[in-house]
Amino acid sequence: MSFIVAIDGPAGSGKGTITEIISKKLGLINIGSGSAYRCVALETIRRGIKVEEKEKIIDMLNELNIEFKLKNGKDVIYLNGEDVTTRIREKDVVRIVSQISAIKQVRFKLNDIFRACANSKEIIMEGRDIGTYVFPNADVKIYLDATPEERAKRRYKQNQELGIEMSYEEILENIKIRDKNDMEKEIGALKQAEDATYIDSSNMTIEEVSKKIEDLIKEKRNF
Ligand code: DC
Repeated sequence: MSFIVAIDGPAGSGKGTITEIISKKLGLINIGSGSAYRCVALETIRRGIKVEEKEKIIDMLNELNIEFKLKNGKDVIYLNGEDVTTRIREKDVVRIVSQISAIKQVRFKLNDIFRACANSKEIIMEGRDIGTYVFPNADVKIYLDATPEERAKRRYKQNQELGIEMSYEEILENIKIRDKNDMEKEIGALKQAEDATYIDSSNMTIEEVSKKIEDLIKEKRNF
């Protein structure tokens, strides 16, 4: 039987961190939808395709193999067999990923992959449209939010840990642009599902947020 936890929210709201903690603790398969969009963006860059060249991007989709795996206790994403977990967080990918994710056919293709991954499994999935569009019947839905400034601060710290150079101002600017793009997308726009629980994590610790979500999951599922 499948069991689906959907966590949606804007860039830097803590979805990735929280999802990783909860997936390990409760033994749920973690599927990072944003990472999959980042893989398509990376391959676009590597093939020298411009974001405007939609047809070329769409043609390339069938040649992509995206896999989510657990390696030495860490969530790792593979693009055609290569571990690209850190590479997909670099500046060049960040710059084009929201435009890539606005392409309808890219969304259809990735949604098919996500739904196939979830078939008869217990999963936790973070993104923008998981509770509204990808899995409207998810068992638990969360909308995780935080102020743009707080989110930029978190992303800055995360990038430093990964050795990625980007100033706070540049990240904040980028977050604001991405919020706008993500919310105004024609399909798959970032939006709170009517039946999602809203959590503002601006003044909460990671532990407090994950405990709250864990409790919501436990209410719905016998562990
Ligand atoms: O969560 P993230 O920062 O890794 O997401 C990268 C981009 O992918 C972001 O600009 C929004 C987009 N995205 C999306 O359109 N739909 C999703 N379900 C997840 C991410």
